Amino acid sequence: MTIDLIIRNARILDGTGKPAFEGDVEVDAGRIRTVGAAQGAARDEIDAKGLHLSPGFIDVHSHDDGAFIRYPDMHFKLAQGVTTCVCGNCGFSAIPATPGEDPGPASGGIISGAQGEFADLEGYFDTALAKKPAINAIMLVGHNTVRAQVMGMDNRAPTAADRAAMRAKVALAIEQGACGFSTGLIYRPGRWSETDEVIELAREAGSRGALYTTHMRNEGDRLLEAVEETLTIAREAGVHAHISHHKAAGKANWGKVRQSLDLVDRAKAGGQKVTLDIYPYTAGSGRMVEYFRLDAIDRTFAEVIRIANCPAFREFEGRMLIDIAKERGEDIADTVRLILTAPKGDRTICIHFIIDEADIEENLRYPGMMVGSDGIPTLNGKPHPRLFGTFPRVLGEYVRKRGVLTLEDAVARMTSVSADTFGLKERGQVRPGWHADLVLFDPGTIIDTATYDDPKQTPAGVSLVVVNGRIAWRDGVHANAGSGQMLRYRRDAYGAQA
Ligand code: ZN
Ligand code: CU
Repeated sequence: MTIDLIIRNARILDGTGKPAFEGDVEVDAGRIRTVGAAQGAARDEIDAKGLHLSPGFIDVHSHDDGAFIRYPDMHFKLAQGVTTCVCGNCGFSAIPATPGEDPGPASGGIISGAQGEFADLEGYFDTALAKKPAINAIMLVGHNTVRAQVMGMDNRAPTAADRAAMRAKVALAIEQGACGFSTGLIYRPGRWSETDEVIELAREAGSRGALYTTHMRNEGDRLLEAVEETLTIAREAGVHAHISHHKAAGKANWGKVRQSLDLVDRAKAGGQKVTLDIYPYTAGSGRMVEYFRLDAIDRTFAEVIRIANCPAFREFEGRMLIDIAKERGEDIADTVRLILTAPKGDRTICIHFIIDEADIEENLRYPGMMVGSDGIPTLNGKPHPRLFGTFPRVLGEYVRKRGVLTLEDAVARMTSVSADTFGLKERGQVRPGWHADLVLFDPGTIIDTATYDDPKQTPAGVSLVVVNGRIAWRDGVHANAGSGQMLRYRRDAYGAQA
């Protein structure tokens, strides 16, 4: 009998954290058949001598909701060895939506990239699957999106009816397969919510065994208070909390990640379930309008900003705000105002250098710390390189060059740990019977090549990516297999035959 694929003579990192071992992997009908010594013959056989084979990487923090529809080839993730993205982070999700209505800037539609004629998660799944995406997606339902849908951009507390409507939307998404409820409490309109509103909504996830993921209310001066709030929400809502892109923002706060991790450890010792992720870069990125008050512009913050995408002033893309201000001979606060008040100025995406390299290492040393790109898939201009390089960067820079963590540990935190946490059924390990999402790479050469100046670059050292048993990427070439699936939390993929 001839099967689909055999990868021979690989160093297999099975994703559990155990050291690599030599062997073959047989793949057929979307699943891994055997791991060890291949028995049969396959239509496609690959000699993987000198390379490591691991489960496909899982990007636990993505904003690719809209990208699955706009860029279904998902080349910027696939080329890194990513086979699944967790979408809907930071409180921004493509669903729920009102067909025909531009979710636009108000609800953070810019970040989720939401567009389409769907209203709920199953509608999104249908739309995305029709595009034959290259990789898999699983979704979170976002607080900012839900709140904007129910209450618009009102800065007020929700009424009892608002609360019930929001609860119903969160519950429906999770019942349709979302892996949890996400917040972005620094953003509008989420920042106008009190803790009790978030608890009430997080409970809809907790009662269904799903997650609460959060871009916390503060990641700088009040980081520790924000961690306390997160732990309170999780405790009160009876939910597993996942802290997104853990960091201490701003020079004055560098080093605080240690205290923050101590708080997490204390909560875990008390029986709470808490997990975290980070991206391996010293800059964040987001919608510029969210970081400023036009009547009191923070100059210190403005000085560490670089413009990534700016529909109003394309010539600013790729430049530091401080240089633009100097060239124009104006106060940097005026440059900020110029950009943000221009037509479509609120669509500007910026990159801000706010993180300490030592904190990244501290985070990566923390047991179980997962990896998420937080990439914003706006491909015009000069997007943050994390969209193109996160996973190869962890393996090349932090594992190989600096030895911050071991290869098998890093791979485990990009695969089995992530799959367990986000409820990806039978994924995240190289294991007989499980889905064949695989990546073949060279740990001696894998590295990101995307830079701030030249971000849209394919990483080096990734030779093969298999998604649901089909070769999706081979030797630098996109195979257009279109074999990605829409995953449901702890269940079979949407539309898959059981
Ligand atoms: Zn965020
Ligand atoms: Cu994010």
